[in-house]
Amino acid sequence: MNNDKIWLSSPHMGGAEERFVKEAFDTNWVAPLGPNVTGLEQDLEVYLGEGAFVGALSSGTAAIHLGLILLGVKAGDEVICQSMTFSASANPILYQGATPVFVDSETETWNICPISLEAAIKDRIAKGVTPKAIIPVHLYGVPYQVDKIRDIADRYSIPILEDSAEALGSTYKGRKCGTFGDIGVLSFNGNKIITTSGGGAIVTKTKALKDRAVFFSTQSRDNAPHYQHSEIGYNYRMSNICAGIGRGQMEVLDRHVALRREMNAFYKELFSAIDGVEVYDVPSKDYFSNCWLTTVIIDETKVRNGKNREDFRLFLDGLNIESRPLWKPMHLQPVFEKYPFYGTDVSEKLFERGLCLPSGSNLMQAEKDRLRDAIQNFFR
Ligand SMILES: Cc1ncc(COP(=O)(O)O)c(C=O)c1O
Repeated sequence: MNNDKIWLSSPHMGGAEERFVKEAFDTNWVAPLGPNVTGLEQDLEVYLGEGAFVGALSSGTAAIHLGLILLGVKAGDEVICQSMTFSASANPILYQGATPVFVDSETETWNICPISLEAAIKDRIAKGVTPKAIIPVHLYGVPYQVDKIRDIADRYSIPILEDSAEALGSTYKGRKCGTFGDIGVLSFNGNKIITTSGGGAIVTKTKALKDRAVFFSTQSRDNAPHYQHSEIGYNYRMSNICAGIGRGQMEVLDRHVALRREMNAFYKELFSAIDGVEVYDVPSKDYFSNCWLTTVIIDETKVRNGKNREDFRLFLDGLNIESRPLWKPMHLQPVFEKYPFYGTDVSEKLFERGLCLPSGSNLMQAEKDRLRDAIQNFFR
């Protein structure tokens, strides 16, 4: 029997990528600028819809960093960040010398809790500091409670830096994720729904702001014949080779969303017959998830054999099947535990019992059969 590793989420090429990369070689645009970079930006702007301006960068983390800079975050400021997320949502706050303030999740979307968010804002203001930005995240492709978070942000006049790294192709009330923040962030890391091998993008509401991001990303060069700099710059622009991969990937983005949603339906059907395991589902029709990763919550008190999340993970690992606990909340991370946290134990409980399952758009029938056998054997 084939025992090749089944990955959580591996790159899935569509076919056109090599043509765009070859074109870059043929025309010698082997640099962090060129037709693929502008082409990918245009493709993304069309995809996200009117009013979205996109700057292609070297990573999603770079996009978060530049987003904070565009929002004026400086040393001594505070920035609110969803606690349950990947560390890249929070690290750039520290790059700026600012302080992260972490907020718990709610149980419907697992993303930033509006009640804890407002409590955090009120308390920080009472302590004399109005937060400079809010970073909510669409985890695993599931949109956060967009309207409620926007209401709160507007009430206190705090801008939103929307971490949509995992949610390209997801929508809320029919509108694309990545367009809800004052600034949005996308990632094209190798494990994402589409990849440029490594890369990301910043989404802004004006061309001027996009140009400003691109200026920072290319070492903040002033308009002069020599190299002159009036501001600190960064080397964050996307390479034209990577952007070529991205242009090919844009041709298959909708197909990838459909295939990942099929994987999600596969798991839903499979687990519907198994006690104690719940496949995450969006709370209402307003939410459309790209199903970047399918996640389950395992309640060992209800599982027939009494086994828990970690037992299941190790069992899958033994069969060469990758799975991973949900993101460990930032307020529980050694590097971040000294910073303020608002909430209860929602994200902590999700972390303890939740698991991400192989969800790639490139998983074939033979792999689905292996997954089905493994799951049925474990929960027998
Ligand atoms: C929620 C979240 N934010 C930010 C990032 C950072 O993106 P990148 O890896 O492109 O820097 C990622 C993914 O890696 C992510 O999952």
